[in-house]
Amino acid sequence: MYFDIKPKSDRKNLFGGEYALNNLSEYLLDDSTRLIIIKGLRRTGKTSLLNVALNELKADSVKIDVRESPYFERKEFFPFLIEQIKQKVEPSFWEKVISKISGGGISYKELTLDFFFSKEENVHLFFQNLNQQLKKKNQTLVLAFDEIQLLKAIKFDYFVASAFDNYGQLKFLLTGSEIGLLDKFMGRRDYDSPLYGRACLEVELNRLKEEETKRFLEEGFKQLGKQISFEEIKEVVSQLDGIIGWTTYYGWLRQKGQSHEKSLERVKEEGKVLVKRELDVFLSPRQAKGKYLKLLKFLARGENEWDLIKYAFLKEKIKVADSQLGLYLKELSDYSFIEKQAERYLISDPIMLKAVRN
Ligand SMILES: Nc1ncnc2c1ncn2[C@@H]1O[C@H](COP(=O)(O)OP(=O)(O)OP(=O)(O)O)[C@@H](O)[C@H]1O
Ligand SMILES: [Mg+2]
Repeated sequence: MYFDIKPKSDRKNLFGGEYALNNLSEYLLDDSTRLIIIKGLRRTGKTSLLNVALNELKADSVKIDVRESPYFERKEFFPFLIEQIKQKVEPSFWEKVISKISGGGISYKELTLDFFFSKEENVHLFFQNLNQQLKKKNQTLVLAFDEIQLLKAIKFDYFVASAFDNYGQLKFLLTGSEIGLLDKFMGRRDYDSPLYGRACLEVELNRLKEEETKRFLEEGFKQLGKQISFEEIKEVVSQLDGIIGWTTYYGWLRQKGQSHEKSLERVKEEGKVLVKRELDVFLSPRQAKGKYLKLLKFLARGENEWDLIKYAFLKEKIKVADSQLGLYLKELSDYSFIEKQAERYLISDPIMLKAVRN
């Protein structure tokens, strides 16, 4: 069912996405690819893609939804992670990994897992042994993290970097809904970041094209034994801009018996709240917050070419150097709030456009 609002985990419920899924599956099987990230705007299906890919993978994998883990404390998070690994591997394999570890003369057997692995050195010994045992079996283990950016606070990026360098049998598949923070975790443009420069492959999810949204809606309604009119499709396409999460939500509301108008209205209202929050996350650490907001307002009212933008700032007596403006536009593009098309900078998400306007 396409209009089920839970993230998908079965290929048959995943609309399109074959290209991204095939790429991802290929990367997961390739020995030399050890760090993979799934990127995309909010609600473009990253979690769904991750779930389906892991589901289809023959090798062992452990998926952590960081939001559901104790992510505030390293000494709680690592035991949690190790417990998840324990649950996924064969008991005999687990025994082999664990039998070799004895921290400070005290063996794992004598203590609880939580306590034993609250010690950093035992954690390192564990991953070392895990890697050795995997190597013996010529196997890899995929560690997948959704909402990885939350682990930056406990410096999990250092762990990923050291595992990447030292534990060749481990692979990392990472995603997160806050694009900018995901980049931060990965150390983009930050030489001092532990993960900076590590070879990493990206799978990117984009909005659906008009034709694809149309097909998604038609097929989704067909699964319900219902039909959707041409006019309704047109409105959904123009107002939800091919974001599959919003379109799924619309379909789900229709499935629950709500009218076309009501469903669309509700999706847009909730969308606006989310977009505002996303924008706040982006703006709050930035000093030039006010200028960014002005800039977005100019773009929203069509003053969207370089000279027009400069003139708009001038008219409002706000000083912005060329280098600054260049940086603002680049940052906004990097975080996918705007897109450059020909010479114009566009806010391409209609829900975002609405949020900026009011
Ligand atoms: N390819 C797809 N086919 C059908 N439904 C999908 C597809 N991708 C996503 N969805 C639906 O869209 C919604 C959002 O999906 P998902 O949670 O996977 O996106 P996300 O990118 O992880 O979102 P977020 O950025 O909030 O973490 C869910 O209701 C999911 O069922
Ligand atoms: Mg997600």
